Amino acid sequence: METTGCVLLLAALLFFILFSQQAEGYAYRNQRKFSEDIDWSYAGTLNQNNWAKKFPSCSNAKQSPINIEESLAQVKLQFQKLRFEGWETLTAERTTIKNDGKTVAVDVDGDFYVSGGGLGSKFKVGRIAFHWGRCNASSEGSEHSLDGVKYPLEMQIFCYEAHLYDSLDETIKAGGRITALAVLFETSVEDNVNYAAIIDGINSVSRYGKSAEVSPFAPRGLLPNSTDKYFIYNGSLTSPPCSETVEWIVFKNTAAISDDQLEMFCEVMTMQQAGYVMLMDYLQNNYREQQQQFMGQLFSSYTGTEELLSPVCSSEPENIQAVPHNLSSLLVTWERPRAVYDASIEKYSVSYRLDNTLNAAPFIYLTDGDQDVGAIVGDLLANTSYVVQVVAVCTNGLFGRVSDTLTVSMPVDDPGKRHRARDRA
Ligand SMILES: *[C@@H]1O[C@H](CO)[C@@H](O)[C@H](O)[C@H]1NC(C)=O
Ligand SMILES: *[C@@H]1O[C@H](CO)[C@@H](O)[C@H](O)[C@H]1NC(C)=O
Ligand SMILES: *[C@@H]1O[C@H](CO)[C@@H](O)[C@H](O)[C@H]1NC(C)=O
Ligand SMILES: *[C@@H]1O[C@H](CO)[C@@H](O)[C@H](O)[C@H]1NC(C)=O
Ligand SMILES: *[C@@H]1O[C@H](CO)[C@@H](O)[C@H](O)[C@H]1NC(C)=O
Repeated sequence: METTGCVLLLAALLFFILFSQQAEGYAYRNQRKFSEDIDWSYAGTLNQNNWAKKFPSCSNAKQSPINIEESLAQVKLQFQKLRFEGWETLTAERTTIKNDGKTVAVDVDGDFYVSGGGLGSKFKVGRIAFHWGRCNASSEGSEHSLDGVKYPLEMQIFCYEAHLYDSLDETIKAGGRITALAVLFETSVEDNVNYAAIIDGINSVSRYGKSAEVSPFAPRGLLPNSTDKYFIYNGSLTSPPCSETVEWIVFKNTAAISDDQLEMFCEVMTMQQAGYVMLMDYLQNNYREQQQQFMGQLFSSYTGTEELLSPVCSSEPENIQAVPHNLSSLLVTWERPRAVYDASIEKYSVSYRLDNTLNAAPFIYLTDGDQDVGAIVGDLLANTSYVVQVVAVCTNGLFGRVSDTLTVSMPVDDPGKRHRARDRA
């Protein structure tokens, strides 16, 4: 036992000495500085099992990354066609890449925006970071996975609200909202020329702590061929401080880079704390484990081919009826769905819209609880037709099947009738 320990320590020291020489001889006082800087890591003493001790958010309920189970993602009409503004143009000259010992991060200079697709605002590209494993085609390096499948590399493009904050770092400090685009990679025989500038950049910062300029590149070239299909959920940063401020967009289509390009990631060096010594080591497997405690709803974008509102948590509410309650409101009643799957009904959602406005978003009325099988919806126009539907909302965040539609005509506004009613009262 003891001799094995000794040999290991000796090996570790040797390794350290060799690499410190190779890395142009870091002085001893620099090592001390490094160890003070490092408050978390992927390997060694400060690994992810211990992140939450210093960064409590890391054990919260909406932590990323997660496995994306396509059949559990609820397709939503509102998630369509992300808009990429300026992404065809080249990055500006102050774009830099840095090896911070956890990843290689490209701080993007230039005006590149993402919006639409259900995002509540317009977000500016701030930083691009990568996660990898052992840098071969079959190694698992991505943080997110699709239907249980991990990929050798994941790129994450972090975007912030530039009208509210000056930078991504300021956004993180202030707890502002972040949109992160995640791209998963497969390997190809040919180099992907769109990645040439970034791969060159990585090559020039393989030494721990180093930064360098990145030659101009067009961010559009980094994205998958199609960005129409994506998954979206509210989660967290996948590294400390693990802030739960990130709306993740994970593309279903992958991007490709060659095996040679992928291997460059595993040339990146880091420092790890191993017991009492700091070791210079290759940075590998710099991904966070998937967060099984994740509680939240995953959505998927609508590309025009998916069946909406599937999967469902119940059959449709039955025997829906609606009668005018007075000139401006409607009494809607229904019966409970016959079947409820894997959850219970939390409440009902009654939607109503003008009969002749097929594409307009309907008005929604939510009942207080699952016991209500009737609702009075108000603020309606007299002498107008409405289309009404009812759907169950379940405790797991899913919806049930939507009821039949019902068209009701509101009564004609008759001032005389109102007078008569008042006289009677
Ligand atoms: C790829 O990496 C995995 C470890 O993640 C290893 O088991 C496998 O042998 C490697 N394959 C090749 C071809 O090097
Ligand atoms: C994420 O949270 C924000 C703020 O609560 C909300 O507006 C948005 O719809 C959520 N997005 C998803 C995909 O759930
Ligand atoms: C993307 O499109 C290009 C050109 O149309 C094609 O050569 C490449 O194989 C495609 N990549 C993927 C990952 O489908
Ligand atoms: C119609 O009924 C609703 C609900 O009872 C009530 O709030 C509203 O004031 C009534 N409107 C008229 C015009 O009587
Ligand atoms: C009710 O609507 C119809 C058709 O839109 C219209 O012809 C009629 O004049 C309206 N009646 C009143 C009392 O507003």
